[in-house]
Amino acid sequence: MRVDVVTIFTDYFAPLSLSLVGKAIETGLVDVHVHDLRQWTHDRHRTVDDTPYGGGAGMVMKPEPWGEAFDAILGADAEPLAPAGERSDGGEPRVPTLVVPTPAGTPFSQSMAQEFADAGWLLFACGRYEGIDQRVVEHARSRMPVVEVSLGDYVLNGGEVAVLAMIEAAVRLLPGVLGNPESLSEESLADDLGGLLEYPLYTKPASWRGLDVPAVLLSGHHGQVAAWRAEQSRARTRVTRPDLFRAEE
Ligand code: 6GU
Repeated sequence: MRVDVVTIFTDYFAPLSLSLVGKAIETGLVDVHVHDLRQWTHDRHRTVDDTPYGGGAGMVMKPEPWGEAFDAILGADAEPLAPAGERSDGGEPRVPTLVVPTPAGTPFSQSMAQEFADAGWLLFACGRYEGIDQRVVEHARSRMPVVEVSLGDYVLNGGEVAVLAMIEAAVRLLPGVLGNPESLSEESLADDLGGLLEYPLYTKPASWRGLDVPAVLLSGHHGQVAAWRAEQSRARTRVTRPDLFRAEE
């Protein structure tokens, strides 16, 4: 999988060299390129923002550096290609999916993380200030798939932290990234838990500071363990995330 990131704060992405994502980069499963947007400015001050038309507080990111950034990253001959599922050769896409992090976007989800993992090539455009001139997205739609994505209902200072989260969520789903792929089953929001939250987990010692591990988990009865965990998942989801809970009949 190839990942390109355009940002004015490239240092935000240093942690990608750590842990599982860092290992996936080392082993060549993921190819990450972080680009400084200011390399596509041409004035002495390397300006990337300007005042908003129509007035209002704050600044807006100018379209020209973004347009040049995408030209350079896509390459001169980049043309739209059939969506991932329709690629006959199974090869890498010739254009990326552009992901624009914004609190005004579609909520990010585990299913979107899976789509990102399947996409083959992602291009993240990290906005700062109040956001990016909307024509950047509009123009990009003429040459690649584009999604505007929100991490949740709160406002960050820019897209960088959101993009770190999205990269981690997608990369851990790539075949070969997790040492034990079974870790992907029965985790929160996984298909095999019906999109519910994960049950509580325990390890040794069986008694700690007066608190005992639930007896059923020590019983050796696999059926009873599974039933207990399923009920814990349902109860936890009903209380914490009623929006995810749809009672089965
Ligand atoms: Cl994706 N970007 C920014 N700037 N703020 C956010 C967000 C994204 N998601 C929630 N808040």
